[in-house]
Amino acid sequence: FSLKRYNTFGIDAKAHRFAAFHAGDELAQLLELTGGIPFMILGGGSNILLTKDIPGWVLKNEIAGIEKVKEDDEFVYVKAGAGENWHRFVMHCIEHNWGGVENLSLIPGCVGASPMQNIGAYGVEIKDVFHELQAFHVKDHSIHTFDLAACEFGYRESVFKRKLKGQFVILSVTYRLRKHPVLNTSYGAINEELAKMGVKELSIRAISEAVISIRSSKLPDPAEIGNAGSFFKNPSVTKEQYDELKLAYSSIVGYPNADGSVKLAAGWLIEQAGWKGYRKGDAGVHAKQALVLVNYGNAKGEEVYELSGEVLASVKEKFGVILEREVNLI
Ligand code: FAD
Ligand code: EPU
Repeated sequence: FSLKRYNTFGIDAKAHRFAAFHAGDELAQLLELTGGIPFMILGGGSNILLTKDIPGWVLKNEIAGIEKVKEDDEFVYVKAGAGENWHRFVMHCIEHNWGGVENLSLIPGCVGASPMQNIGAYGVEIKDVFHELQAFHVKDHSIHTFDLAACEFGYRESVFKRKLKGQFVILSVTYRLRKHPVLNTSYGAINEELAKMGVKELSIRAISEAVISIRSSKLPDPAEIGNAGSFFKNPSVTKEQYDELKLAYSSIVGYPNADGSVKLAAGWLIEQAGWKGYRKGDAGVHAKQALVLVNYGNAKGEEVYELSGEVLASVKEKFGVILEREVNLI
């Protein structure tokens, strides 16, 4: 079964078996059927790099549904099935004037993967609007509820990528959204875009439109060029290391973290190392955003992986900074 249509990198890897499930009990039945054969859970396939064929089952999460489960004066609590398309969920919130996810417009993929790496963009992360999630334990099939603290969210991190890796399947996520939206335009590019658009009255819809416009101008549309968004995380260095780098490279881009360390823009490092627009066969580094590796058509997962290794080595050599891959390697 070819997975080419099921991963935004457009890698033509094969799965031994493929099935979709629409509810937790269907997943339980499928797991009885697979009888211990390894499986992987797939959402929208927008944060994976398939480096080889999958010898076991690929199980696609298609649990649907969006419903308001409770509300108080300030908040609405909205539960979404893990298989719902993330951007569709964002649009649903904007239509109801529920604030909190507008900065996260147009991120590809499904609701169920949003807590996996605490998706983030333009000054907002899932942890800021997260209430709780329900997850299915793959061994004993019990259903667990995780609150904010239990998810151990960090920058592109959660407990599901670390301690509990491979142990749970997320079935639904409940978000806490504001009835009276508080607008977040802390990310400079949003203000510039709003000004360019001539927006007079700020609203969650205007922010969503600005974010969509910025993203469309920089990030490759997977329908045209295969990719999985940022391939690496933005690395943090000590203040001392940053000051040294700043002396040598005055235009280096860095943002202070709460703990005093500095987060560097990996896209800047990769561009300065000369990779922007690089292409070898069908694998390449995007010409408008060097943090995004791309597949121009028929690249193999191994080729993209190899390229990522070359980028990593050259950034390490030039700047002494070690990049960490953000995309899940399968
Ligand atoms: P998949 O790729 O299907 O899965 C990702 C991982 O999570 C896999 O390991 C999978 O096994 C696991 N998984 C998926 N669903 C479940 C589940 N229900 N239960 C348990 N495990 C599960 N990310 C950002 O944070 N910010 C961005 O701005 C951003 N921009 C992007 C732009 C582009 C053009 C692209 C292609 C990607 C971008 N991404 C971004 C990355 C990606 O969109 C997110 O990581 C998204 O949440 C992945 O969702 P998915 O459903 O496609 O996950
Ligand atoms: N930059 C360069 N050259 C490049 C790319 C970027 O110099 O080729 C510089 C930019 O000029 C800017 C800085 O790097 O000064 C940051 O760039 P940008 O605003 O595009 O954001 P990013 O740090 O590259 C991160 C996230 C994105 C998210 C955006 C917006 C990570 C790993 N990536 O990218 O998330 O959409 O900020 O908030 O944190 C993803 O995770 O897949 C993803 C796309």
